[in-house]
Amino acid sequence: MKRSQINRVIDELIEVADREGFKLPPFAGWSPEDWKPKDAHYDHIRRTKCGWDVTDYGSGDFRHKGLVLLTMRNGYPDGSDRPDQKSFCEKIMLVDEQQVTPTHFHHRKTEDIINRGGGRLVCKVWKATEDEKRSDEHFELLKDGAVIDCPPGAEIALDPGESVTFRPRTYHEFWAAKGTGKVLAGEVSSVNDDEQDNRFLDDVARFPDIEEDEAPRHLLVSDY
Ligand SMILES: [Fe+2]
Repeated sequence: MKRSQINRVIDELIEVADREGFKLPPFAGWSPEDWKPKDAHYDHIRRTKCGWDVTDYGSGDFRHKGLVLLTMRNGYPDGSDRPDQKSFCEKIMLVDEQQVTPTHFHHRKTEDIINRGGGRLVCKVWKATEDEKRSDEHFELLKDGAVIDCPPGAEIALDPGESVTFRPRTYHEFWAAKGTGKVLAGEVSSVNDDEQDNRFLDDVARFPDIEEDEAPRHLLVSDY
């Protein structure tokens, strides 16, 4: 991805969050210059990979296969009991109409995906089989705390305020429905570990190669 596009989509998330009245943590607004004097007291942010994350999953087509997100809080995936450990993670994401986050599940993470405002978010879901394929079985999951029955490949529509829970080994993909507008989507989960915990159905690159065509306005977690 070009750095200019990364800069642009981060600014857009900041703008939409502001419009929706969703306040972001201070480090969301820090420039690379702001980061420079931040000493070891700020290592928790860096080490738990809080901050900006923009990916096109290696597609070269961010608009249709990609995601911009901010990890606002997270713990260490090693489960250690250090003084700055947390057992939870929270993210905020901006999802465009028909911009797909490709099919994946998590081995350990349980997550709620939440529509925080904007258009309609659609989540398509399957149970994973033992051999990590998409199961053709019905299964149950929680939507806003209520049990619902899901046929394989069920599409769950979330309007602002609504949420769905994905337990481990639940395949999911999501996008904003056509004609409804971009969605400010939240995620509240157990600790996030992009290195070990993601199982994408198809081969994707979780972090993009970056073409430095302009100066970064925000650091990505992969820039720390
Ligand atoms: Fe996920």
